Amino acid sequence: MSAEAQQQQQRSGSRLVAVGTALPDKVLTNADFEVMMDTSDEWIRSRTGIAERRVGGTTTGLAVEAARRALERSGVAAESIGLVVTATQTPDDLCPSTAAGVQDALGLICAAFDLNAACAGFSYGLVVAHSMLLSGAATAALVVGVDRMTAATNYDDRSTAILFGDGAGAVVLTSEPDGDRGIRAWDTGTDGSHADILASPIRDGRITGVEMNGKVLFKHMVRYAVDSARAAVERAGLELDDVVAVLAHQANQRILDAVADRLGVDHDRVISIIEHTGNTSAASVPLALDAAVADGRVGPGDPILLLGFGGGLSWASTVAVWG
Ligand code: COA
Repeated sequence: MSAEAQQQQQRSGSRLVAVGTALPDKVLTNADFEVMMDTSDEWIRSRTGIAERRVGGTTTGLAVEAARRALERSGVAAESIGLVVTATQTPDDLCPSTAAGVQDALGLICAAFDLNAACAGFSYGLVVAHSMLLSGAATAALVVGVDRMTAATNYDDRSTAILFGDGAGAVVLTSEPDGDRGIRAWDTGTDGSHADILASPIRDGRITGVEMNGKVLFKHMVRYAVDSARAAVERAGLELDDVVAVLAHQANQRILDAVADRLGVDHDRVISIIEHTGNTSAASVPLALDAAVADGRVGPGDPILLLGFGGGLSWASTVAVWG
């Protein structure tokens, strides 16, 4: 990235004003999996950190609920929202988009579209909405990350079935080019050469479930995530010590720990909610953000790092000053 582009990133803010989330009511515990397949609570907890996940609902329903909460908390008028970007790899339908469902349910008058960058989708959505706000396309936007991963899970494969849950998270972004708050820098990337280690194929028109080589994926993902996080923090003109919380994709507790170790940040600064949600794909970063805001680990004026990574392989990091 050129020095000029880097300076432009640091100057330009779009504020993250509020976050809202939605989880289905139904809980699927590790004990439930012990009945369904040859596995154990001990194996799942020790390999992944997951104890339970929420399952059910519809992608559009979860997206609408999260977006409505974020909008209510933001105090931004519905009439001001000019853009809805929804990140998902599990839409209810290919058309109309999930974002169109959010626009309609909330009575918005705006542009709305979906994007798919798998588990990095919400983080990509932030960069896209930020860029559109800066271009003048809108003055406020909703960015939603939502997935119904359990609708795309193969319950005959014990190595992947135990990982996933459903959920949604949304943030309201407002345009504030010269303010102290908001997005300060970002980094995005993709390496499409690894379809053999993580894929969710459609065969004969049917979603067949996630196919994954977990061990190989682990190594690539940690490396790409860490490099991206470092690049975004540097472009923001900050040090990792300045970042109060890392809101990283919740794929696996061991990945969160490895990211923390390689970034050299304390484990408690890498927010973890995976014990009670599992891997919710595009929803996991805003779900982690909501948890950290709710318990005060992230407050107004705090620098944060939002770090999405997953299928593609794709990754996206955003450094922002919250609130
Ligand atoms: N319960 C009990 N045993 C299981 C099991 C389960 N649910 N799933 C797999 N096993 C068994 C395997 O059959 C294998 O047995 P074997 O040694 O007799 O052949 C053994 O456990 C080890 O399997 P393996 O797949 O190598 O486990 P692992 O230690 O690599 O852990 C993951 C599996 C998926 C938890 C881990 O690889 C991982 O988290 N990878 C990264 C995932 C990731 O990056 N996801 C990002 C997606 S966005």
